[in-house]
Amino acid sequence: MKFATKAIAISVVLIAGMAFAGKSTDPDAMARQTLMDTAGMNTKILGDFAGGKVPFDAAAVEAAKAALGDAAGKIAVTFKPQGTDDKSEAKPDIWTNWDDFVAKADGLVKASAALDASTVEGVQAGMGGLGGACKDCHTKYRL
Ligand code: HEC
Repeated sequence: MKFATKAIAISVVLIAGMAFAGKSTDPDAMARQTLMDTAGMNTKILGDFAGGKVPFDAAAVEAAKAALGDAAGKIAVTFKPQGTDDKSEAKPDIWTNWDDFVAKADGLVKASAALDASTVEGVQAGMGGLGGACKDCHTKYRL
């Protein structure tokens, strides 16, 4: 149950994040938030499979993993322009610590690539690494 509990905890954090995040009107900030929403949606899909909320479906898991990996790979290019407004939760430290920020984005690329999408146990085992990669960046770079 350890992994399932973790997956559920991650889903709860995600849902809370989505419900309270205000939407920006600045185009650069909007692009970041849209990308993060894609990451959030696909992580939630994986979490639902890991937690047994949805019967295991290898093709759907693989699709969510691919979409998450794709979003992770676009973090650097999408966050590069520092447009901002009062709804953005991006800390200015991102652009003064750019290499570290990109390394954290890369951490998510690696965590999503490492997830074994072929079995429910694989997804469960991979959820901690995913959640850790989100948290690692959010703790430092998200308001
Ligand atoms: C490399 C850094 C980084 C990583 C990795 C990262 N995020 Fe984010 N995320 C951010 C930043 C910065 C923001 C705030 C963006 C803004 O409001 O301008 C954010 C915002 C969000 C939001 C709110 C978007 C909105 O509509 O306001 C969600 C949801 C989210 N992230 C989910 C995730 C999930 C799930 C993961 C892991 C699978 C993840 N993030 C990984 C940096 C990251």
